[in-house]
Amino acid sequence: MQHKPFLPHSIVFSECNDSWKTLRNLCKTEMFSSNAIETQLRLRAEKVERLLEFLLEKQGQVINTEDIVFTTLFNTLSCVVFGKDLLNLEDEHETRVGVKRSILMIVEYVGRVKDVGAFFPIFQRFDLQGIRKGGMKHIHEVFDYWNDLIKEKRGLINSSTPSSVQSKSFLVVLLENGFSDDRINEYVTELFVAGTNTTTTALVWAMAEIVKNQDVMAKIQEEVKREITSDKIQVSQLPKLPYLQACVKEALRLHPPVPFLLP
Ligand code: HEM
Repeated sequence: MQHKPFLPHSIVFSECNDSWKTLRNLCKTEMFSSNAIETQLRLRAEKVERLLEFLLEKQGQVINTEDIVFTTLFNTLSCVVFGKDLLNLEDEHETRVGVKRSILMIVEYVGRVKDVGAFFPIFQRFDLQGIRKGGMKHIHEVFDYWNDLIKEKRGLINSSTPSSVQSKSFLVVLLENGFSDDRINEYVTELFVAGTNTTTTALVWAMAEIVKNQDVMAKIQEEVKREITSDKIQVSQLPKLPYLQACVKEALRLHPPVPFLLP
């Protein structure tokens, strides 16, 4: 008997049926198209700016880099999906409780390669190590959290004319296309699991390697000083920084956040 995946209706695990095709098309056009990425440019710049302000405020103090990078990426994605920030950079306790912790725990369970059932399918249904039970517990915690946001948005759409729903977040697109709460829960969880911890891990490893290799750090600083004359680096200026880009690629090669392809 084939074991049911954690999120059976998500883009990664769903059967290739009409509903999956609709979801993929919406993602392609509304979230990941060049137009959509271009539209999200300002949002990403705002989030990076807020992160830099936060770092300036904390100058001289010890900070948890992983924590603040995760929060920044989480809020960037939550603005695209829900139209608002869901975490607060100042709130360090958010890591240990709430949605952030649940997402990290899902990554922990979904990523476990030590699952006996993965090697011996006959054992899958017994869930001997409690991986499925543990994973589902945290998935339901996250669903409870999204449910309130979905309910709020449904209420807003029902009580207003479409044009008065201020920002057309991806959630509105899914609701307008008739997605049920269950499917939205699964897809949104998948997006946050796929999009936050991966990028955080990649960035934190890149920074760790740069700090460890001081000659590399000096070369990056020299390149930035030489090529960027404005106050802040804009996305459009990144092609002027080939050495920095090579460092990011090398960090991804040394520490791939997702070492395998998906099923
Ligand atoms: C450093 C950052 C990232 C890495 C290394 C990474 C890596 C990967 C890999 C290896 C796959 C599997 C591809 C395959 O099997 O064909 C994948 C799929 C996916 N990723 Fe990422 N990813 C990153 C960031 C993101 C972000 C930011 C998002 C969303 C905002 C995202 C959403 C997805 C989705 C939805 C899929 C499934 C696509 C499909 O099955 O069609 N990822 N990613």
